[in-house]
Amino acid sequence: MTITDWSGAAPGAVAELYARESQQWRDAFDWDTAAQWLEVETARTAWGLPGLLATDDAGQPVGWLFYLPGPSGAQLGGVSATTHTMTRALVAAFANREQGRTFAAFIPALSPGLEEALHLVGCETIPHLHLVASLDRLTQPPMTRPVDAGITLRPWRTGDDLVAAQVLLSSYARDDAALFAPTGAPDEWLTYVTNLVEQIGCGRFVPESSVVVERDGRPAGIALVTLVSGAMAHLAQIAVMRDAQGRGLGGALLDAALGAARAGGARAMSLLVSSKNKGAIALYRRYGFEPRGHFLEARGLASSSGPSDQVTPVG
Ligand SMILES: CC(C)(COP(=O)(O)OP(=O)(O)OC[C@H]1O[C@@H](n2cnc3c(N)ncnc32)[C@H](O)[C@@H]1OP(=O)(O)O)[C@@H](O)C(=O)NCCC(=O)NCCS
Repeated sequence: MTITDWSGAAPGAVAELYARESQQWRDAFDWDTAAQWLEVETARTAWGLPGLLATDDAGQPVGWLFYLPGPSGAQLGGVSATTHTMTRALVAAFANREQGRTFAAFIPALSPGLEEALHLVGCETIPHLHLVASLDRLTQPPMTRPVDAGITLRPWRTGDDLVAAQVLLSSYARDDAALFAPTGAPDEWLTYVTNLVEQIGCGRFVPESSVVVERDGRPAGIALVTLVSGAMAHLAQIAVMRDAQGRGLGGALLDAALGAARAGGARAMSLLVSSKNKGAIALYRRYGFEPRGHFLEARGLASSSGPSDQVTPVG
């Protein structure tokens, strides 16, 4: 197997690999990612999004890895491989390139041996559970605890980005925020929300299924819902201001988001939750969310995993 820079790859050859990856996302997560791969390919050919290509001994492209360089290190955007050896070779070649620099990733565990390959190059990983709840079985709001007087729910309104950013800033502990807002600064949260609302990386935002909960007339929590395929809604974010947590607002938001998604035609709702977030997992399990697969949050200092006779490292 040979690993080379993917900039020289013919569009036709890579297209087949995107189609394979697309199918895997559909099978594993019911997530339609065709538009995402189109964006990746445009970035590869138009401005040189960095990436690597694995080619077999017959010269056929068989896998890829791409990443986005940034001021706080590279963000690994995806790894598409079909064998442990290919995964290891791609990740090792990436680490050779980024040697000594920090990098991060939030990617599905679809390529064989991905977690081990990331550990080998000096990365720590945290699994995130992919949970799914059927909306067909949802008969009545499963809320178990009445919410206080003064609590009202309202649909998402244009311009609520700032409200959501403020709620997120207040709700997440600093360590848990890093995935969304690297240093936890308010402007990073606003950028995160704006990207979620305007871009398709986490599905297409659905304002009609997204909810704000207010306490005494002030925003206290948000649930942001996207659509990742025709029938699969996705709870992209749910958060309650720290001083309002533990009073049933999270449950009320979940009730409202599930009901609105079902009214909008979705048949199921998915979400991703850190395996460390025991409180949120308990809440989701109560609402019928079941584990289907997992993603990996990864962070580390890229280090060479040593020479491999099966890899041609690239500079
Ligand atoms: C997760 C979150 C939205 C829950 O909102 P909330 O208003 O506190 O939740 P509720 O009061 O409706 O709690 C409902 C249930 O959730 C579970 N729960 C919520 N937070 C919990 C915690 N910190 N520890 C244990 N269980 C917790 C409990 O099962 C609780 O059941 P109970 O009524 O028997 O206590 C809120 O804690 C939050 O904003 N956390 C930070 C952001 C975050 O982690 N979001 C989820 C990302 S996937």
